[in-house]
Amino acid sequence: MTNSKNLWGGRFTEGADETFAEFNNSFRFDRRLFGADIRASIAHCDGLFHAGVLTRLESERIKNGLVTLLKRADFDKAYFDENAEDVHSFIEGKLVHLIGDTGRKLHTGRSRNDQVATAFRLWLREDITEISKLTRLLQKSLLELSEKNSGAVLPGYTHLQRDQPVLWTHWCLAYFEMLSRDRERLDEVWRRVNVLPLGSAALAGTSYEIDREAVARDLGFDGVTANSLDGVSDRDFAIEFVGACTILMMHLSRLAEDLIIYATNEFGFIELGDAISTGSSLMPQKKNPDALELIRGKSARVFGHHSALLTMMKGLPLAYNKDMQEDKEAVFDTVETVSLTLRVTEIVLQNIRLNSEKMRLAATKGYLNATELADYLVEKGVPFRIAHDTVGKIVLFAISKNKELNELQLDEIRDFSDKVENDVFEALSLEKTLASKNQIGGTAPERVFEALETAKRDLEIETN
Ligand code: ARG
Repeated sequence: MTNSKNLWGGRFTEGADETFAEFNNSFRFDRRLFGADIRASIAHCDGLFHAGVLTRLESERIKNGLVTLLKRADFDKAYFDENAEDVHSFIEGKLVHLIGDTGRKLHTGRSRNDQVATAFRLWLREDITEISKLTRLLQKSLLELSEKNSGAVLPGYTHLQRDQPVLWTHWCLAYFEMLSRDRERLDEVWRRVNVLPLGSAALAGTSYEIDREAVARDLGFDGVTANSLDGVSDRDFAIEFVGACTILMMHLSRLAEDLIIYATNEFGFIELGDAISTGSSLMPQKKNPDALELIRGKSARVFGHHSALLTMMKGLPLAYNKDMQEDKEAVFDTVETVSLTLRVTEIVLQNIRLNSEKMRLAATKGYLNATELADYLVEKGVPFRIAHDTVGKIVLFAISKNKELNELQLDEIRDFSDKVENDVFEALSLEKTLASKNQIGGTAPERVFEALETAKRDLEIETN
């Protein structure tokens, strides 16, 4: 079947095989680039006019035509219900249909290779900003969740074994930090996305005197690509973007995992609201953390996209190869998945209730203050290694008595070290255990309060 709408019919005498055409066509997904491609085309049109390639009248006709297409697509839902090779062919076809032969002049001095790279970057630029905004909103929810439960304490874990108590706010701020780094990464990626490849043409550069820097300014790009071969075949920006998203998703997945564990009957630290839970079709008593499990699960597909992009690029000779058309769906799906996951995570945070009693109890059971006792001995002049060993023995003894350290008699502790005095019980209290972690980054309430204030300030500054 001949595809009458393709842009390259001249040297062909036969039409493309129908199945191949379907395989080759990207319009069903790259139509998303419609708006971006039109914007870039308008800027290219201006570039052609200033280069003396188009007359003012021609360039005005083309630009007006392009704007008309934008408007039509806006109010006509069925506008895209058409078979086209890709979004670029679609737009050119519509333009020529609308304004006639002048429309055929638009593609002067460019190739779909620099065109697609330009539209893709323009499109992605907006979405990075959007994802960054959603990340910031999630950070805000973390701060709100922390403030709603200020004073709450939970056991901190390593190896999923109780270690030392930490403030709930400290936990919230740990994820806040991760998300701050994610936003930094997205900002950096944004800067590398924001470079104009248009003017690289097919691969060797354009033959027309188009002022590329002026076109870049016109489109809000910070600069132009420096090498045309690289300009058309670079997809680092897409890989980096998805890469930044893999880390972001990994963070959300860890957050989800923490909350899934905390929501179990075994832990019982939090309760998930009905709005974010599901039931079982069989067992009437069940309340499942599906929202959290999907947050955790969705990370996998973004990791997959990252791997797909790297694999797709690794064997490509310079410059453009059609393999690169595969970049779109990976990036589109990443944007969709990450945006939705961020929004759902925010909703989850708004729908959990803390069982602070249970958390506090867990933070005081299981010898979470053993290090405190060792530190107490150190303060009394015992070398840390010896103190560590002594406390180990005291813990063993306490386990045999089924008591916590602070439930032992003074004499019982003194059997292991005569350095211990009555002030040991204060040292072993939850309050003291927390308060002693009073260096930058520690979980002492004073420090955490400071960190919270800094986090709020940073978020505030960036919101304004
Ligand atoms: N749809 C193509 C893509 O996304 C546009 C570029 C086509 N270029 C070409 N030389 N066939 O990569």
